[in-house]
Parts: sequence; C-alpha cells; structure tokens
Amino acid sequence: MSSALVAPSLLAADFARLADEIARVEAAGADLLHLDVMDGHFVPNLSFGIPVIESVRKVTRLKLDTHLMISEPGRYLQAFKDAGADALTVHLETCPEPAPVLAQIRDLGLECGLTINPGTPVEGLFPYLGQVDLLLIMSVQPGFGGQRFQPAALEKVRALRSRLDQQGLRVPIEIDGGVNPQNAPDCRQAGVGILVAGSAVFGAADPAAAIRSIAGR
Ligand code: DX5
Ligand code: ZN
Repeated sequence: MSSALVAPSLLAADFARLADEIARVEAAGADLLHLDVMDGHFVPNLSFGIPVIESVRKVTRLKLDTHLMISEPGRYLQAFKDAGADALTVHLETCPEPAPVLAQIRDLGLECGLTINPGTPVEGLFPYLGQVDLLLIMSVQPGFGGQRFQPAALEKVRALRSRLDQQGLRVPIEIDGGVNPQNAPDCRQAGVGILVAGSAVFGAADPAAAIRSIAGR
C-alpha cells in the first residue's frame, strides 16, 4: 500500500495564532492545507471566508485545498482565486448540475473538485469523473470538526476507485471527517490518496508523528 498525502484542516487550529499554527503543520510535513469555508446556510455553522484565505496565502507556500460548504459557490469562484486558493471543491448537493461550475474553476486555472455528503449515493459522482481534478468523499456530515468517522465512506471510496480505474482515470480520492492514525490505513487501503485531518493533526502533541502515521510513511 503506497503512502498518501495529508491535508490538515485549518478548522481545528487556534484562530488567534493562524500563522504559527500553519507554520507548525508545514514544518510537521503537511502536503496541503485544507480550508473549510462554511456559510451557515448549506451547513449549520459559519467558519471563515475570503479575507482569511487572503491572509493565509501570505504565510504559506502549501497548496490551499479549499472546501466550499456554501450555497451557490459559482458566485464566488473568482474571489476565491483572487484570494489565493489553488483548488476549489464544490458539493454536488449545492450544484446538482456541476459541469458548468467545474469548467469555470478550471478556466480560472484552478484545480476543481466535487464532493458528496454521507447521505448522497456515490453514483451521483459518476457522470463527472472525467471533468474533475479530485473527488472528495465526506466521512462525516459537513459543518463541524471533531466528529466520528463514518466507515460507510470506505465503501464509497472503493466503488469510486474501481470506477475510476475502469475508465483509466488517475483522479485522486480525498476523504474528510474524523480521520485519525487508527482509521487512516483503512482509508489508504480503500484507495484514498489525500487524507484531510483536523483534530488528529492540530490536537496532536506531536503533529509530525500524527502526519507520518496518517500518511503511512
Ligand atoms: C467538516 C470539515 C472537515 C473537518 C475535519 O465539515 O469539512 O474538514 O474540519 O475535521 P476533523 O478531522 O476534526 O473531523
Ligand atoms: Zn473539509
């Protein structure tokens, strides 16, 4: 089983000390930085948005993997690009016809991702596999960090990986929610290439050890 990339979720950081927190996970071996944008509408919580991403951009060279838990994400794509995001992932639940939004993200020169909530069947992603740079499977209901990993997500990962392989597509599968060193091996085994981890990295006494063990390296 090959190792995977780890994307610490900034949602679990101390927001009063963002630059230090980012430096800490960067030094610990983070591969990407996962940014959870929430609008209090698509999900029952608010997090941060464009001005914070702009500030984050100035203090890190890590790729900014931006997860848009917002209604009508198409309205803000240019603003997220201008703020410095590298990848924008939208929910199928907010974009039932995602092809135009995915194309717009690519036209902006960014990577585009598509994601589904735990309650959405994985087959919903199948029509778009050739139009995305990453696919994100949610292993918790989006809105809050620190929730328990839902193992049913692994079935979705396996189904998606085999569909991608059948089509000869090398699109990476990302998983998000409740990932920790205990369940990470199952995720990698199922075919996950990018593991998002908030609490398990920012809450660790030794973030470098947590990242190594989640990544499997
Ligand atoms: C949930 C977010 C996740 C979350 C992960 O809505 O999309 O990225 O912050 O945090 P942990 O790893 O603590 O579940
Ligand atoms: Zn996320």
